[in-house]
Amino acid sequence: GNVHYYDFVLKESNFTRLCSTKSMLTVDDSFPGPMIRAHKGDTVYVNVYNQGRYGVTIHWHGIKQPRNPWFDGPEYITQCPISPGTNFTYQVLLSSEEGTVWWHAHSDWTRSSVHGAFVILPAEGTTYPFPKPDGEQVIVFASWYKEDVETLMDEALRSGGLTTLSDAYTINGQPGDFYDCSNETTYRMSVDYGKTYLLRIVNSIMNTDMFVAIADHNLTVVGWDGSYIKPLEVSYIMITPGQTMDVLVTANQSPSYYYMLASPYFDGQADDFDKSITSAIFQYNGNYTPPSIPVYPRNIPGFYDVGAASFYTTKLRSLASPEHPVDVPLNVTTRMFITVSIGMMRCPNDSCSGPDGNRLASSLNNISFANPKLDILEAYYRHISGYYDTNFPDKPPHLFNFTSEDLLTDNVTISDQGTRVKVLNYNETVEITFQGTNVMNSGENHPMHLHGFRFYVVGTGVGNFDNVTDPLTYNLVDPPEANTVPIPKDGWATIRFVASNPGVWFMHCHFDRHMSWGMDTAFIVRNGNTEESTILPPPAYMPPCETDSLYGPR
Ligand code: C2O
Ligand code: CU
Repeated sequence: GNVHYYDFVLKESNFTRLCSTKSMLTVDDSFPGPMIRAHKGDTVYVNVYNQGRYGVTIHWHGIKQPRNPWFDGPEYITQCPISPGTNFTYQVLLSSEEGTVWWHAHSDWTRSSVHGAFVILPAEGTTYPFPKPDGEQVIVFASWYKEDVETLMDEALRSGGLTTLSDAYTINGQPGDFYDCSNETTYRMSVDYGKTYLLRIVNSIMNTDMFVAIADHNLTVVGWDGSYIKPLEVSYIMITPGQTMDVLVTANQSPSYYYMLASPYFDGQADDFDKSITSAIFQYNGNYTPPSIPVYPRNIPGFYDVGAASFYTTKLRSLASPEHPVDVPLNVTTRMFITVSIGMMRCPNDSCSGPDGNRLASSLNNISFANPKLDILEAYYRHISGYYDTNFPDKPPHLFNFTSEDLLTDNVTISDQGTRVKVLNYNETVEITFQGTNVMNSGENHPMHLHGFRFYVVGTGVGNFDNVTDPLTYNLVDPPEANTVPIPKDGWATIRFVASNPGVWFMHCHFDRHMSWGMDTAFIVRNGNTEESTILPPPAYMPPCETDSLYGPR
């Protein structure tokens, strides 16, 4: 493959949206940040200069980085933050991914303004598994906050409150026609009648899944999370934070202006979520009288439409063709059952401001994850003890009716804080069933994301997972591959992967609110006994663990 070099300059700059101006951290003064384009099999070097005020890291979301965890990026997991005034060069190895993935900051909540698309074209000499589109367009969804996000994060950690709602959602940086002071700058995509476009859609919104539709136009989904799927024709898509979708759309309607809308999906209880809608205009070129208002999509699902969300997700199938084969592991050697909850956390010495010295927290198997002061990869690689424990539980400590309305007893609502990871041997075949819970009536969809791998989503369902009947429904023939899977509210999802990537790999909910409340863990995959199954040597320079990101390890 070829080698590409990018420079990313991280610095604060002023942006005005919704009639108010604020300073925020961006890459190269752009929001969203610059797109990276390369071919499958290439290597990309990104030199990140931090000219901001606090330590930051960048993650290459959806890129496996085989044997190369040093450059994966999550702070305190594979590296310490890049201090202000210094730089760090990431080496990004493109192996099996093809389609659209993305990159984003992986420190505190800086991802809200530090993110961009990462387009991986077919390897030289190969082509798409669908007719070559006439044009391509990256569509990035993000959140806009009038306030400083780091202040909001601090509030969320202290109070656990919902002070973290965005003020707007954006499409390619613009809120669109339905927000104050925004309709002059609404993002417009101009199209020629009769042509087909590949939309490369990235959801970088901080805390909300989205439904997306273009009025009167069908969408054909052809890719998910950096691999191709069987073409699926739909009138809307559902996309969670962390997911990417490749979608074909043909401009085959009467020339006019059509709205592309993204509206939030939420399946929980709280009523105060941001229900606003962001818009762009899908605009035909040519001579015609434009409508006074663009055509509005008639069938975009509503805020609480659980059926529409799961209908969409369960329809995705991998391509499973000779060029894009599936290789679902059939003999599972490590099986994990992980509950995904929002509840309360016991704080050391009752030091938190919530009831009984507790605070709102998220957890996996009742463990609320805390970042260590030295990154786990460094501690593991250099055999430095005291920074993490290897006893992440394979099962939740209490078995109960996870989805009942009434999960309020202390032993299920209060989690313990810890840095507990799961160790896997090289090439183990892993199955994880994630079970959503309704602890404290806070059940909602959780987009679970795994670094270092693409996994097969072999099953998903509603209610409590039944380990006798539900496995009979698994799709082991053409399950889709992904790096982020929605665990439906009060439901479950099962994934499988082969632990063929030695290193340290983070796993977390991709709602940043839940991630910073502790809905995380990490896998350590041991080296195998060949050179090809051994972690690459560390680079000569890794950022030292001296300067923290703004809030540092928690
Ligand atoms: Cu897109 Cu750990 O993240
Ligand atoms: Cu979550």
